[in-house]
Amino acid sequence: MMDAMIPARVASLKVSGIRKLFEAAPPDAINLGLGEPDVQPPQEMIDAYKAALDKGYNKYGPSAGVKELREAIARSLKRFRKDVAFENIIVTAGATEGMMIACETIVGGGDEVLVPNPGFIVYGPDVALAGGKPVEYSLKHENGFLPDIEEMKSLVTPKTKAIIVNSPSNPTGTVFPKDVVKAIADIATDAGLYILSDEVYHNFVYEGEHCSFARFHDDTVIVDSFSKTFAVTGWRIGYVATSKEIIQQLAKVQYYTLACPSTATQYAVLEGLRMENHYRKQLLETFRGRRDVAMRKLAEIPTFSTPPVSGAFYVFPRYSQKVDSEDFALRILAKGVICAPGSAFGSRGEGHLRFSYANSKENIEKGLDIVKEVAASI
Ligand SMILES: Cc1ncc(COP(=O)(O)O)c(C=O)c1O
Repeated sequence: MMDAMIPARVASLKVSGIRKLFEAAPPDAINLGLGEPDVQPPQEMIDAYKAALDKGYNKYGPSAGVKELREAIARSLKRFRKDVAFENIIVTAGATEGMMIACETIVGGGDEVLVPNPGFIVYGPDVALAGGKPVEYSLKHENGFLPDIEEMKSLVTPKTKAIIVNSPSNPTGTVFPKDVVKAIADIATDAGLYILSDEVYHNFVYEGEHCSFARFHDDTVIVDSFSKTFAVTGWRIGYVATSKEIIQQLAKVQYYTLACPSTATQYAVLEGLRMENHYRKQLLETFRGRRDVAMRKLAEIPTFSTPPVSGAFYVFPRYSQKVDSEDFALRILAKGVICAPGSAFGSRGEGHLRFSYANSKENIEKGLDIVKEVAASI
């Protein structure tokens, strides 16, 4: 009865397909479904967090975040743009809140926004909750999961307001090379569009280097996070970087959404940014080794085809079995391995499975051996 009174934009939101599966998992299952590093953050950050609490940073702070952290983030972005200052940064409660307030700020009623399919699950709902219409562009297996530039151009209409991009990409593990970043930036520049660029995996690039969209397009809104970089997904902290004018608008929306980001957490992240890059480099090397193991094991499964991956911590093989991906993932789960069905990331993810290699090499080997047996039985 009450449900009928909930507006369609909320009632039509789906519960994440991944969560449903995780909840059905036996406690001793090997988890190749994780969307977060399986390690702890640097001890120095934990100590800084505790020290911040002891110093009395237990109160509200500024809506856009504390100035020292905004300055430190701006310094870290100077590798892409020399003109970044603290006024270009707002600290958020992770990229999830960052993308939501970016959509609320930029997308008007009826505006169209191009979103990836398959893609991270929040983009379509964020656009729709802001009153806009998500229009999907495809990331196809046969194109190495890179966008088809001609298709993207053909989707732009007078109502298009923005393009959402995500490189390194969840769920595909693809890193957009510089020429693709430039080609998308050119579409946005020609049509006068914003680019909302989710760069939360920028620290996980195994070949080549991360190329931010901010390099090529002024109207870029970078949505980034410390969740993956410092293994602090539970801390809920990230940021948005864009023009000073948009930051002022974002700060208003953030005020009504969150009041302000968590104060003590910001001092802990500040310590993380001050530290040498040692932790981040070590994390990258650990994950590179795991990526290699995952690719080697997947190559042993004759019905799987996995394009090379150079970023994030996911592989997204296409399979030739005639079962849907949820059914396939449930059969794998029944044998004790958690993975995500491709369909959880959009209609074009069907026929794929997503494996995360945020787990030990031993578990990746064991888990993918089980997947191989299940694949052989279908
Ligand atoms: C592509 C992508 N963007 C954003 C997020 C959310 O990050 P945060 O923890 O900062 O909200 C995730 C988490 O898995 C992700 O994969």
